Amino acid sequence: MPTFRAPRGTRDLLPAERAAFRRLETIATDLTERYGYREIETPLFEQTAVFERGVGAVTDVVEKELFLLAPRTEESESWALRPEPTAGIVRAYIQHGMQTLPQPVKLTMTGPMFRYDRPQAGRYRQFWQFDVEAIGDPGPAIDAEIIDLALRFYRDAGLDRIEVHLNSIGDAACRPAYIEELTTYFRGHVDELPQLERDRLERNVLRLLDSKDPAMAALNATAPRITDRLCGPCAEHFASVKAHLDALGIGHVEDAGLVRGLDYYTRTTFEFYAPGREGQQQALGGGGRYDGLIELLGGRPTPGIGFGVGLDRVVLALAAEDVATRKLGKQLESAARDHAHFAVILGDELAGGQVQLRDLEAGSQQLVPLVDLARKLAAAAKSHRHGVGEG
Ligand code: HAM
Repeated sequence: MPTFRAPRGTRDLLPAERAAFRRLETIATDLTERYGYREIETPLFEQTAVFERGVGAVTDVVEKELFLLAPRTEESESWALRPEPTAGIVRAYIQHGMQTLPQPVKLTMTGPMFRYDRPQAGRYRQFWQFDVEAIGDPGPAIDAEIIDLALRFYRDAGLDRIEVHLNSIGDAACRPAYIEELTTYFRGHVDELPQLERDRLERNVLRLLDSKDPAMAALNATAPRITDRLCGPCAEHFASVKAHLDALGIGHVEDAGLVRGLDYYTRTTFEFYAPGREGQQQALGGGGRYDGLIELLGGRPTPGIGFGVGLDRVVLALAAEDVATRKLGKQLESAARDHAHFAVILGDELAGGQVQLRDLEAGSQQLVPLVDLARKLAAAAKSHRHGVGEG
């Protein structure tokens, strides 16, 4: 008998790991509901053209990594497994006339994506994304809100030291001149370019900036920067996004090389990293604004912004930090930081129908029968006095 195995670059999620994913899905659902997002589900495959037009034909994701489905007959349409959710969600937004709904339309989806990438730790051919899209709002406030939402997700998951990398890559008004300048720059170094980058130079020069080829690092470091060439409205938008982030107390690193691997981005782009891991191209998530995408896929001009979180990488990062099995003390600290007044601790007493109710501000704790918990909490919430014994 042959030995059958899961395909290269894919993994079975056995029950313990599936539970870790389920926990993240629950956190995602709770958070997105609170921020007014509604769930959508699009097919695992789309017409190939949705990705070619949406993500861009001259990108790694489409040119090298797309899983194409073999046609059944000669007339069959060309289909591809989704490498990312945004193009499909925007396709659905247009197809179902969501432009007529109150804007922005806030949508969220969690599920598997497929990229024919070279498998390695944290890089799979089937991986999971938690995705959020707000379509129909030009920002800049929502840009900051969406970054805030992503950070809350990481924090609720147990990663509270996530670094935000931020950039603006301009729009149709300022990018063409920048692209010309960048092309001239790389033409001057054409002999130093690896073959793939040389091919792309005249077709999609921005992709040279996020090339995975180590030979490109030095050239990219001295390349002209888009942030120095933004037009007035883009510069103003970017400044305002940063002001909103400051107001929310969200620190960030400006990263002029952050052009992202997909073509649909305009203006704000961002990525999330666990500290010290930026260099390994192991972003825990990323996203940005895509004000031209809806039109590109046949809709009316409509702005949009969103992000995708790589759940596989979040699970790996949690395992690395060992927070999946965090000590109670750390969890209580994190609840206090979120300004929670009470914590309900489910311990061994649960078997006897009791839980510990801890008043985080007063530092007091009391054993409460589960049946009385709701009444106790309601009474305590009404009372201005601290101390759970008084409810
Ligand atoms: P992306 O940066 O291509 O963006 O992917 C988002 C996240 O998915 C990455 O930061 C990473 O955590 C995870 N990821 C990507 N490829 C792999 C892989 N091969 N194995 C494991 N994890 C992976 C997007 O896909 C955009 N759709 C995000 C977005 C939404 N932009 C606007 N709206």
